[in-house]
Amino acid sequence: MDLGLTGKVAVITGGSRGIGLATAECLVKEGATVVIAARRQEHLDTAAARLGVDAVQVDVTKNADLDRLAAHVQERFGGADILVNNAGTGTYKPFLEVTDEDLEYGMAINFFAQFRLTQRLVPGMIARGGGAVINVSGRTAVRTAYPPGSTCTGPAKAAEVRFSADLAMELKPHNIRVVCIVPGVVMTPDRFEKWEREALGRELTVEEVASLRDRLETEKLPPGAQWGKPSELADMIAFVSSDRASYLSGESIIVDGSPGAYSYVRALNEPAT
Ligand SMILES: NC(=O)c1ccc[n+]([C@@H]2O[C@H](COP(=O)([O-])OP(=O)(O)OC[C@H]3O[C@@H](n4cnc5c(N)ncnc54)[C@H](OP(=O)(O)O)[C@@H]3O)[C@@H](O)[C@H]2O)c1
Repeated sequence: MDLGLTGKVAVITGGSRGIGLATAECLVKEGATVVIAARRQEHLDTAAARLGVDAVQVDVTKNADLDRLAAHVQERFGGADILVNNAGTGTYKPFLEVTDEDLEYGMAINFFAQFRLTQRLVPGMIARGGGAVINVSGRTAVRTAYPPGSTCTGPAKAAEVRFSADLAMELKPHNIRVVCIVPGVVMTPDRFEKWEREALGRELTVEEVASLRDRLETEKLPPGAQWGKPSELADMIAFVSSDRASYLSGESIIVDGSPGAYSYVRALNEPAT
């Protein structure tokens, strides 16, 4: 299926690793001009060299960085046709241990960043005649988590779902669609390492990581199931970004091939069977 993305300008936050990187790769293959934004320069450089994307060092929790990114996209490309608000993270802690800093960061990196960057790029999108905003949320937006809990991440991810629905109504007259993608558990190395570090209280060796992930996949997933791959999310994001999804806006799509499967964080926190 030709997605008709040739020549489109796409901005992807968190485009240097995980789901964002896979999305950048997918959109480049579809002929789009891609701008990725993230904090760590070495990963931006690696992605830029491999994929030929434009890479901008940005912390999406900082307004000045978002201003700089928006100005760069406007000056260099005349605005964006596609915005993938993907940078985000999940922190899992018992409610009584959540600090004010965790709470504020959860909103800032997830919902506030999506809101603020969209506000900065939509005027250019309107001037180009329309486009698509894709907000990446997470399963904790729509289902209750489990010990150790996602009271500080779940509500931020839920805000992204609600934001997408409302924004779609407002931007419809401007020919801009807004879609929220809600991933299940997706095997992204940085994310899994963060959760392992938090659950076990230390870094793991390469061998420990491999055996832990194999064991949890065998023990905790239904037969034949596996954690999702970044490319499986990227394919969905590319499709909903394109005009082939023209009859789709304001909705949240759960992309989860192992419904009912264990959360990776829950699996990590349960004793071995
Ligand atoms: N993987 C999952 O199981 C899963 C499940 C549900 C939802 N999601 C959602 O899917 C999205 C992508 O997750 P992922 O697993 O692909 O994450 P990941 O592998 O940890 O990658 C995160 C990306 O975002 C960038 N990033 C992180 N903080 C940033 C900041 N403050 N400013 C700019 N960039 C930042 C990272 O680069 P730097 O660190 O260099 O900035 C990296 O490029 C997130 O919104 C996440 O909540 C993931």
